[in-house]
Amino acid sequence: MEINLIPRARRLVERLGGLPFSAWPHEILDASRRIASPPPPALPENFRRLPHDAETIARDVDYAVFNAQAYRGFLEQAGDTLDGAWLLELGPGRNFGVMLTLACMGARVAVADRFLAPWEDDYHGRFYAALRQRIDRESIGQSLAPLDAVIAARDYPSAVLMRTTAGGEDLSAFSDGQFDAVFSNAVFEHVRDHARVFAELWRLTRPGGYGSHQVDFRDHRALERPLELLLLAPKRYRRTFDEYFGECGCQLRPREMSQLFECAGFHLLTQERPRQVDEAYFAGFLPRLRASRSAYREWPAEALRDLEVRYVVRKPS
Ligand SMILES: C[S@@+](CC[C@H](N)C(=O)[O-])C[C@H]1O[C@@H](n2cnc3c(N)ncnc32)[C@H](O)[C@@H]1O
Repeated sequence: MEINLIPRARRLVERLGGLPFSAWPHEILDASRRIASPPPPALPENFRRLPHDAETIARDVDYAVFNAQAYRGFLEQAGDTLDGAWLLELGPGRNFGVMLTLACMGARVAVADRFLAPWEDDYHGRFYAALRQRIDRESIGQSLAPLDAVIAARDYPSAVLMRTTAGGEDLSAFSDGQFDAVFSNAVFEHVRDHARVFAELWRLTRPGGYGSHQVDFRDHRALERPLELLLLAPKRYRRTFDEYFGECGCQLRPREMSQLFECAGFHLLTQERPRQVDEAYFAGFLPRLRASRSAYREWPAEALRDLEVRYVVRKPS
């Protein structure tokens, strides 16, 4: 329905006005985009009630174990040991399963989230019990004590998991050079002030420490039209970003993110680019971008094609 509405409206207005789509007034284009995008949520995702059916719990357990094993593999490849290492996850989302699995593997762990998920018995009680069972069954960790402590307390004892609700912009809860590595997955596209966040990450990473950050550059309101957010003029974009609590994704493009890492002092070790824009969509998008009031309207096409980047960064020793 949503997808068919725009071409239909477009044909109608073109027939009435004889104007090509790229020459439509911005107000009409903005209105048609609004129709096609979901409305802003009432609350940030981490504060909405969580589904706790068996399928959701099993999927979330898989996700936590998969990421924890990937992070362990990353550290081992970098020549670091997990045992006793201090690890921080920025923007963990609805549960802290990744870091708690790494704690069961011997790491010391912390999380920071601008919207830190509160404990919900229906979801977290079930989730951590299922995670414990999986780690035990598959001998994934060396100790179940971190999860036992969380399950018993129905909360996160600070000796098991350090937490801060301040978000990446203010990580003053942690000390200079505390962390051997910082991880994030699908977080930096939701951040408003990257320069502040990266300065904080620099401060609390030890010399020679690592960062591994996956960023999804798509417009999260409609992933199949991944660049629509770029069409918004700067003021409108900032308003939209705030209305959606940042969940719409960001206008910032991969090369700007790389520059921000480098400006903070990090060395960029690798930038994997696993996802590019669909060329048919891109061909229709570019004329609309060129005719928009976007800050990106004159950007070269090749700088707009990458939709996902995995950055590995290092603070020089
Ligand atoms: C799309 S979720 C990703 C959750 C999880 N990392 C995953 O892979 O499923 C984005 C997370 O980033 C958090 N976030 C948004 N802005 C943030 C900020 N400025 N600092 C820290 N976390 C932030 C959100 O609250 C949310 O938990």
